[in-house]
Amino acid sequence: MESNLSNQAIILEDGKPVLKDIEDTLLAEGEIRIRVEASPMNPSDQLWLAGLYGIKELIPKKTLGAGFEGSGVVTEAHESVGADIVGKTVAFFDDCHNEGFQGVWRKYINKKASDVIQFPEHVKSDEVFGVFVNPLTVVLIVNTAKKNGNKALIHGAASSSLGKILVRYAKHVDFPVINIVRRQEQADSLKELGAEHILDSSSDTFDDDLAELSKELGATAYFDPIAGAFCGRVLAKMPAKSTAYVYGALSGEPVSLSPIDIIFYQKSITYLYLATWFMEASKEEQDEAFGEVIKDLSTGGKIFGTKIYKTFSLDKVVEACEEAAKTASLGKVIINPQL
Ligand SMILES: NC(=O)c1ccc[n+]([C@@H]2O[C@H](COP(=O)([O-])OP(=O)(O)OC[C@H]3O[C@@H](n4cnc5c(N)ncnc54)[C@H](OP(=O)(O)O)[C@@H]3O)[C@@H](O)[C@H]2O)c1
Repeated sequence: MESNLSNQAIILEDGKPVLKDIEDTLLAEGEIRIRVEASPMNPSDQLWLAGLYGIKELIPKKTLGAGFEGSGVVTEAHESVGADIVGKTVAFFDDCHNEGFQGVWRKYINKKASDVIQFPEHVKSDEVFGVFVNPLTVVLIVNTAKKNGNKALIHGAASSSLGKILVRYAKHVDFPVINIVRRQEQADSLKELGAEHILDSSSDTFDDDLAELSKELGATAYFDPIAGAFCGRVLAKMPAKSTAYVYGALSGEPVSLSPIDIIFYQKSITYLYLATWFMEASKEEQDEAFGEVIKDLSTGGKIFGTKIYKTFSLDKVVEACEEAAKTASLGKVIINPQL
């Protein structure tokens, strides 16, 4: 049992990430201590570091850490939990809107045992660092499209880590997806994954191709992580009554949509946000989504696994953030606090 609870964590000082020595409290009833080994640098983390993520009014006014999800190995458990969990690989999430938010970018984290996901012996931290954010959002995207009666969906920035999971999951559940990318090499990488419909927005025929394909497949839902003017451009080519679900802010720009499309073709824009789904979904819906993701990640992650592009140590969070913005199409930049 480790008795020394000294630790190191990323703390935001005047909005800037700084690596600090900290002291953790002893384990409380029901808690475990985890050696954090992997955490992705997701776009949501990039927004957080830029001071733009989340509902500001709900974020507790206290010293803030960073990092929303990760994986690691349990090093210690409170006697109320029992020792069986020690040595297990676990995945965990930390919500910045919760009073207890610490941020997972730290060498060790104390969590309630009931709040983590345990994986079988053979699963390593670098296979399950991203269990929550992207896999569950992919399931939510497909379920939203199905629930609202769409026959097919359109996805933007489809060469993202999430986009690659979507290609594999949609194929698995046999739901047609039109994948939009912005470069030929991104189209090639999606083709390799087995994507059937790929459109490159840099092509001269993009708008006409999109109009034709969305009509042919009956694609009336666009899941948009880019926003900006591109949202309206895509909607303009989709059938009447189509909806864009804005779920990311990759362009950093406000969305725009022609009033003609709104009035005469009843096209609309709404949002998709995993956090609100979490709050509104029934226990059965949550268990079903988690069940699919955990089963796959426990057996090789053929659908929900994420390729790592580069790993950074805890003191290189700023560099990791810059790298992730440049190389996202190649795989995930992750933080390993043990380096
Ligand atoms: N709403 C929610 O609940 C929720 C949950 C999970 C994820 N998300 C969002 O899902 C999106 C994807 O996440 P991820 O982790 O998969 O991202 P990621 O792996 O970091 O990939 C980002 C991708 O977006 C592309 N991209 C960046 N800026 C772009 C732009 N202006 N126009 C077109 N493409 C652009 C990049 O391609 P290049 O190489 O061409 O730059 C890259 O392929 C993010 O926006 C994230 O915030 C939202």
